[in-house]
Amino acid sequence: MTESLILQYDPSRLDVHLIGGGSEALALAQRISGLMPVVTVHAVSLMPALASLCRAQEWAVRDDEPVVGAGQLWLVASGDGERDREVASVAVEAGVAVYAPAHPTLCSVRLPPRVTVNDTAQPASASADGHWQRGHVSLVGAGPGDPELLTLKALKRLQRADVVIHDRLVSQEILALANPAARRFYVGKARSRHSVPQEGINQALVDWARAGNQVVRLKGGDPFIFGRGGEELEALVAAGVDFDVVPGITAASGCAAYAGIPLTHRDHAQSVRFVTGHLKNGSCDLDWSALARGDQTLVFYMGLGALDLIRERLMAYGLDGATPLALIEQGTTANQRVHLGTLSRLPDSLAEHQPRPPTLIVVGSVVELASRLEWFQPTDSGSLGWVEGKHPTPLSQADSA
Ligand SMILES: C[S@@+](CC[C@H](N)C(=O)[O-])C[C@H]1O[C@@H](n2cnc3c(N)ncnc32)[C@H](O)[C@@H]1O
Repeated sequence: MTESLILQYDPSRLDVHLIGGGSEALALAQRISGLMPVVTVHAVSLMPALASLCRAQEWAVRDDEPVVGAGQLWLVASGDGERDREVASVAVEAGVAVYAPAHPTLCSVRLPPRVTVNDTAQPASASADGHWQRGHVSLVGAGPGDPELLTLKALKRLQRADVVIHDRLVSQEILALANPAARRFYVGKARSRHSVPQEGINQALVDWARAGNQVVRLKGGDPFIFGRGGEELEALVAAGVDFDVVPGITAASGCAAYAGIPLTHRDHAQSVRFVTGHLKNGSCDLDWSALARGDQTLVFYMGLGALDLIRERLMAYGLDGATPLALIEQGTTANQRVHLGTLSRLPDSLAEHQPRPPTLIVVGSVVELASRLEWFQPTDSGSLGWVEGKHPTPLSQADSA
């Protein structure tokens, strides 16, 4: 039987009977706490940790054997192998779903994955204010790289996460702030590498939340800016999964600030545009005449591969070749490098080495302020780098025990 079988049931509607009062039963109780609210524990005596978990979860405790009924799941873990076999066999014969870890051949289901909680901890599915009793997804922005740019709310979500599903542009230091017991899954997208399809990510969010977990979907920058956050939320809405959104500092704000480039300035730019430079079939289908207007700042995300095309199009549509341009490499991290030039003339530094992603392109006269307003010394940053290359666990290979 597969783990997904149990997920066919609505855990909140199952009539769960846990047979046993010792450490084996406690281990199962910890796995289901907060996930299956209707639980009766059958034991003549309970070890103290299990007794306090039963009180905290308001589970019924009885000293008799369970009676077969509809919609039941029996979790058999008395610590006595022979007794467990007899009880599990009764369940099997009666067609009751059963999980008896000491007798794998008698198990008709497996428990959903779950992190362990100790007997003094809050149930993992309850929020600090007690509102979330079920699985939940927090769509969290991790900011552009410097871990100190994480919001307090994002930090709180990470600290109580059961599961963290993260992208490539999330720094190691930020991941290190998550609950140490949380499972981590890497679903990053890089052009050169195999990536988890978006549908697979959406499904993973739904599955882990339905299994009763507090899931943090962690994305670089802000999840609603070129982050597919909207698509993932639509999948959660369709599946009836609760969620919230924690915005993050987007790359444009973070990188521009750390490069000394105010994105707007009364003397230079009255508006700012965030633009995708992602090429589709070798071209960028953008409103170039609107982009080539003056008095504004353009920020191109994902634009490194299209840099030449962007420059050529903007000038072809009338933007002055002397307009300042900045390319910011690995902004806000210890590896940040800022290359300053103009639309018509790229800086020599760009030709000297291959800029390493992620990079952001800023175009507009605000860029000329960078040489005066520059303040950030990359060595100031607490950030050491991205998860890429540090052996994150891909979703497809992560353990799901
Ligand atoms: C898929 S978009 C995600 C943007 C993200 N949601 C945000 O709000 O910043 C990825 C692009 O963001 C830009 N980016 C993200 N972090 C960056 C950083 N630290 N330095 C430079 N560019 C960055 C790059 O252009 C990169 O290709």
